[in-house]
Amino acid sequence: MNDIKQKSRLILAPMQGLCDPVMRDLLTRIGGYDECVSEFVRITHTVHSRQTWLKHVPELANGNKTFAGTPCTVQLLGSDAENMAVNALEAVRFGADKIDLNFGCPAPTVNKHQGGAVLLKEPQRIFEIVQTLRRRMPSEIPLTAKMRLGFEDTSLALECAAAIAEGGACALTVHARTKVEGYEPPAHWEWVRKIRDSVNIPVTANGDVFSLEDYLAIKETSGCQSVMLGRGAVIRPDLARQIKQYEQGESVRQADFAEISGWILLFFDLCLQKETNNKYPVARLKQWLGMMKKAYPQAQNLFEQIRALKEADQIRPILADLAGK
Ligand SMILES: Cc1cc2nc3c(=O)[nH]c(=O)nc-3n(C[C@H](O)[C@H](O)[C@H](O)COP(=O)(O)O)c2cc1C
Repeated sequence: MNDIKQKSRLILAPMQGLCDPVMRDLLTRIGGYDECVSEFVRITHTVHSRQTWLKHVPELANGNKTFAGTPCTVQLLGSDAENMAVNALEAVRFGADKIDLNFGCPAPTVNKHQGGAVLLKEPQRIFEIVQTLRRRMPSEIPLTAKMRLGFEDTSLALECAAAIAEGGACALTVHARTKVEGYEPPAHWEWVRKIRDSVNIPVTANGDVFSLEDYLAIKETSGCQSVMLGRGAVIRPDLARQIKQYEQGESVRQADFAEISGWILLFFDLCLQKETNNKYPVARLKQWLGMMKKAYPQAQNLFEQIRALKEADQIRPILADLAGK
């Protein structure tokens, strides 16, 4: 059914607590992305203020773009269709020009309140949420959705995808795992193809792309031209750049650790600009190095060097030294 011609697109995944505005800023500066998606903004019974929207998605104040100019989509998570629509309209009023809906979050607190992946048990509710938002939002604002393959199993995957398409979403991202599979490999890329073949909206494939080879394999298996990078984007900060170089027929150059050291320093400085208290920049740096050490032994060494340090003033000179600054 899906014969939509798309050109290759690379999207930076929404990742709560990991791909925050500073990480989005950094990764989109390094380059390769056509779009990024905000961490989910949770919608319960209230209507968020402008200040709250800007805290979650500061890109709203910059024409919906990151510093480097990459478009940023606002992601909502919730189950109360009416209040989600009211909030979506507020986000649009404050500048959002594209809204994405989260039907995949596995967090127990979110699922307990009927948000995220638990909705995959009820395709009819998914349909109602998507349809309500589509009807209430201005027609020029694209509405998209992101889903997992199901909650416990894949038995409702096609129904959920159909609910999203029939509800009026104009594109769908599929994280190729069920909720109970968490983040365990493998991602079932063949299921993305089944979904892609069953709906008439463009589908973005997502799950377990950690290298250029994985990217080529997910495209081949899923048949999708659009791919979303999650953890791999953080572990290898130049992954999207490598992929773009490949797609543009350029020679693919992997960043060496000297270049990465410059990005580590920039990241730390951007964190310090956001919050001058030590806790945020130090915690974010340790989190990132903890992930990067899977790919770079030098990140492991740096992690060991700073592990016991708590003050930004102690850590920054080490980073500056490493970056040759
Ligand atoms: C720490 C973390 C936070 C996440 N937060 C979100 C989120 O806010 N919204 C969402 O739709 N998906 C979220 N995800 C799922 C990712 O967007 C992505 O679908 C998943 O990580 C699979 O892609 P990957 O294998 O490339 O990491 C999160 C994943 C991780 C690891």
